[in-house]
Amino acid sequence: MDRIRIRGGNRLNGTIPVSGAKNAALPLMIVSLLTPGTLTLSNVPRLADVRLLQRILQNHGIDIMVAGKRAGQNGMAGDVMHLTARDIADTTAPYELVSKMRASFWVLGPLLARCGEAKVSLPGGCAIGTRPVDMHLMAMEKLGAEIVIEGGYVLARARKGLKGAHIVFDKVSVGATHAALMAAVMADGDTVIENAAYEPEIGDVAECLVKMGAKIEGIHSSTLRIKGVTSLTGAEHSVIPDRIETGTYAMCVGMTGGDVLLKDANAGHIGAVIEVMRSAGIGVEAVNEGVRIHRNGQALRPLSVETQPFPGFPTDCQAQLMALMTMAGGTSMIRETIFENRFMHVQELARLGADIHLHGDTAEVRGVKKLTGAPVMATDLRASVSLVIAGLAAEGETMINRVYHLDRGFETLEEKLSACGADVTRISG
Ligand code: EPZ
Repeated sequence: MDRIRIRGGNRLNGTIPVSGAKNAALPLMIVSLLTPGTLTLSNVPRLADVRLLQRILQNHGIDIMVAGKRAGQNGMAGDVMHLTARDIADTTAPYELVSKMRASFWVLGPLLARCGEAKVSLPGGCAIGTRPVDMHLMAMEKLGAEIVIEGGYVLARARKGLKGAHIVFDKVSVGATHAALMAAVMADGDTVIENAAYEPEIGDVAECLVKMGAKIEGIHSSTLRIKGVTSLTGAEHSVIPDRIETGTYAMCVGMTGGDVLLKDANAGHIGAVIEVMRSAGIGVEAVNEGVRIHRNGQALRPLSVETQPFPGFPTDCQAQLMALMTMAGGTSMIRETIFENRFMHVQELARLGADIHLHGDTAEVRGVKKLTGAPVMATDLRASVSLVIAGLAAEGETMINRVYHLDRGFETLEEKLSACGADVTRISG
């Protein structure tokens, strides 16, 4: 297994290109199940999760072609992926695949909409919490599907096709909103989805669906109004920049000091992160080419922050913010309201010298004067990258184990950081 070695203490200066968003690319790839036409996605990040979903979709019979890099193309430009689901060969998503990546459960809605049936493994628990799928199932039932749970699988059937419905979520869920939207666009009649999540990734999927012929109003709001259509066509769509990657590198710069342009970042997608970083004393400016982050000698100020659905502070940046606050000049309070077990980074940050105390859903982070390098490992993607942030400022050597977590969601992390002066090396296992 690969490891990443960081020798801390270098400031970051230069440019970091932001990749396409993992959490938009995955549902966009799944959308291709809805049409026999070809969906061409550009700016697709080169990530382990994308490769895994490719395999899962190929299992359903989707033809996938990834265009090679063209001469003169910038090495950091994303892939162009052509996905064609001429026929659906198999409506089963097996346990062995769904258990490796939760987002693959989202094939349920499109398979039901296109084929009137689906058999999809329940994803099971995961490191950050129990993560039930009850709201996904409620939405499919409202749209007229019959659902039976058997042998760890969801067996869903809509013999006469899906019917438009009024769906009200009692909690904001990204996945359940994706599922309801992807199913409703081809249901018979009108659907209203209330208390929908409106993370930018959902807006991106909705905009792609509109290019494919779907009729959706209220995109980028908490109420989606959909008029079902009988078929969708192929389309071309570019994946939005990754706001979590943006927030992560912004915090790297906040931690080490320096001046970095996050190229192609969209400041409008990270309003809450920008506000929090400015309160901590970090310079953040939206510029033509992206977002500029700088800190020169100012001490980091402690903060009180809680995670919330968009447009609030994202849970996917909580671990990174905690790493940053370990070196603030005072005590910060960080409350996690989305997932009940998303604090696995706390023990690992403590190995680097952080002083963090957990009180239920809230972490009390007492700033320390210095961190020192150590071997660490983490059990999920964002927790792993919080250790990178701490390692960048720690004295001496930090060795991050289980790098496969990072590879699920961060494209060429070590190259991007090294190009700005960090001492970060991948050591092949
Ligand atoms: C998406 O997960 C993201 N994944 C997560 O990113 C992200 O942390 C999360 O949204 C919140 O923003 C992808 O986009 C691929 P939810 P999702 O449904 O859709 C509860 C990362 O690091 N819930 O919005 O699974 C759930 O338990 C990942 O990139 C139910 O109770 O999250 C949680 O408490 C990790 N019943 C809350 O809702 C349901 O049926 C929000 O979860 C569904 C969810």
